[in-house]
Order: sequence, then structure tokens, then C-alpha cells
Amino acid sequence: MIEIRKETPDDFPAVRYVNEQAFGGSVEADLVEMLRAANKAVVSLVAVEQGRVVGHILFSPITVAEAPQNFRGVGLAPMSVLPGFQNKGIGSRLVREGLEACKRLRYDAVVVLGHIEYYPRFGFSRAKDYRLDNEYEALDAFMVMELKEGVLQTIRGLVRYAPEFNEVGQE
Ligand SMILES: CC(C)(COP(=O)(O)OP(=O)(O)OC[C@H]1O[C@@H](n2cnc3c(N)ncnc32)[C@H](O)[C@@H]1OP(=O)(O)O)[C@@H](O)C(=O)NCCC(=O)NCCS
Repeated sequence: MIEIRKETPDDFPAVRYVNEQAFGGSVEADLVEMLRAANKAVVSLVAVEQGRVVGHILFSPITVAEAPQNFRGVGLAPMSVLPGFQNKGIGSRLVREGLEACKRLRYDAVVVLGHIEYYPRFGFSRAKDYRLDNEYEALDAFMVMELKEGVLQTIRGLVRYAPEFNEVGQE
């Protein structure tokens, strides 16, 4: 049985391990720790099986070039499931419960840069159809989903992730 819950400080080493294993390197694990240290891990959930952390998802604040002053958006990244536990629906549960948590915290919209066959099933669609650009020259892989009805009509332009995304991996 898989349980999805908020991460606690006791989970931090296991979350690092899951990110390292899923991505095959330390960049995403470092990014998670930098975002946490900056209080930008606004939603950070773990998937736990028999006491072992096997998956993780994080959401952090984004900015949008043209948006109402009270607009609050988040970016989904990174997300990871231990290789031996992939393709069992754990990632899907992390996304769904993560989106619910963002909604409860009254975020207006979520962006993701990821697999184009994967995220549309949760309600994401191409961000460029909403006149939203990204810093990474991604085309179809940059997607958006509104959590508050109508909000995508009120924003446009360049979406920026937290600066930690550009700082990670640099000295
Ligand atoms: C992406 C990831 C988190 C999905 O977790 P998961 O528990 O395997 O996800 P689910 O079981 O809910 O869904 C599996 C689906 O994801 C798809 N998927 C996984 N990795 C994929 C990839 N690299 N490209 C395209 N689709 C991928 C699978 O094909 C499968 O699709 P299907 O349901 O149509 O068969 C996991 O594969 C992972 O950790 N990958 C390595 C790290 C990574 O790429 N993170 C995402 C960055 S955006």
C-alpha cells in the first residue's frame, strides 16, 4: 500500500536518494534542498511504501511577466519515483495529490516542463496556447493548468521558475 503524505525533516535523506536514483545524478536532489532552504518548497509530498520513501514531488512559486498583482502560480518540479517502482501509478498519485494540495493553498495555476504524453492526463495543456513562454525554449513540453477557473485568461508572457533552478549546478 502506497501512502502519499507531506514530507517531514526525517524524509530529507530518503528524498535525496530517490531524486538521485530517478535522475541518475545529483542536480535535482541539490535543487530540492536549495528550494527547501529558501522556503520555496510550498508543496513537497512523498510516496511511502512500508515505511520507505519511493517517490517525491515538489511545487515552488513561479512568476509570470504579465499577471494581476494577486496572481499566485507554482511550478511542478522535480518529481521522481525510484526506478524499481516506476510505472505502477505512484507518479500519477503524487501529481494528483500535489495538485489538490496546491488548490487547497489557493494557488491559481501550475506549470510543468515534462513528458508531453504524461501530463495532459492530469489536465495540463500546452502553455503556448495561452501565450505563456518559458526560459528553456521548450515548445510542447511546457504545459499549464489552471486551478482557479478563468485565470489563464488573465496572464501572459514569460514564466520564470525560482532562481534556484538556474543556480543549481553552478559554483
Ligand atoms: C516520470 C516519473 C516520475 C513517473 O513516475 P511513475 O510512478 O512511473 O508514473 P506512473 O506510473 O503514474 O505513470 C507512468 C507513465 O509515465 C510515462 N513515462 C515515464 N517516464 C517517461 C518518459 N521519460 N517519457 C515519456 N513518458 C514517460 C510512462 O510511459 C507511463 O505512461 P502510461 O501510463 O501511458 O503507460 C518517473 O518515471 C521518474 O521518476 N522518471 C525519472 C525522473 C523524471 O523524468 N522525472 C520527471 C521530470 S518532468
